[in-house]
Amino acid sequence: MNNKQWIRVTAMQNIPLREGRSVNVAGREIAIFNLGDRVLAIDGRCPHKGGPLAEGIVTGSTVVCPLHAWKISLETGSISKPNENPACVATYRTRIESGIVLIEVPEASQEMEERPLSCGEQNRACLGDSPSPVL
Ligand code: FES
Repeated sequence: MNNKQWIRVTAMQNIPLREGRSVNVAGREIAIFNLGDRVLAIDGRCPHKGGPLAEGIVTGSTVVCPLHAWKISLETGSISKPNENPACVATYRTRIESGIVLIEVPEASQEMEERPLSCGEQNRACLGDSPSPVL
């Protein structure tokens, strides 16, 4: 089963341009980033040693972890530095409605508690879409 739900998380104005904010959504810590023309969301903790990704520096469409500088794609969740790193973080679809950021997350279920999301799982199917247009 693949049930998902859209959750309203915060007003767009609460996320400064090119910065991240941490939110708790359906029991998950998620880092959301304002890239100006869109908002991207990934798991909030670095796969290296749990650094708070919402506090990282945003460069282009990546974030640099504030603890040891791993560079993580906000679009795919993959790690681009260090090179060829198989670790990754889950990504989440986002959209903006009337200035409010919404994130698509799995509905709370036993399945998701037992099986964590894998790298880029949620955004892979929509890479061709125009994520989170500002309405
Ligand atoms: S905890 Fe993120 S790079 Fe080490």
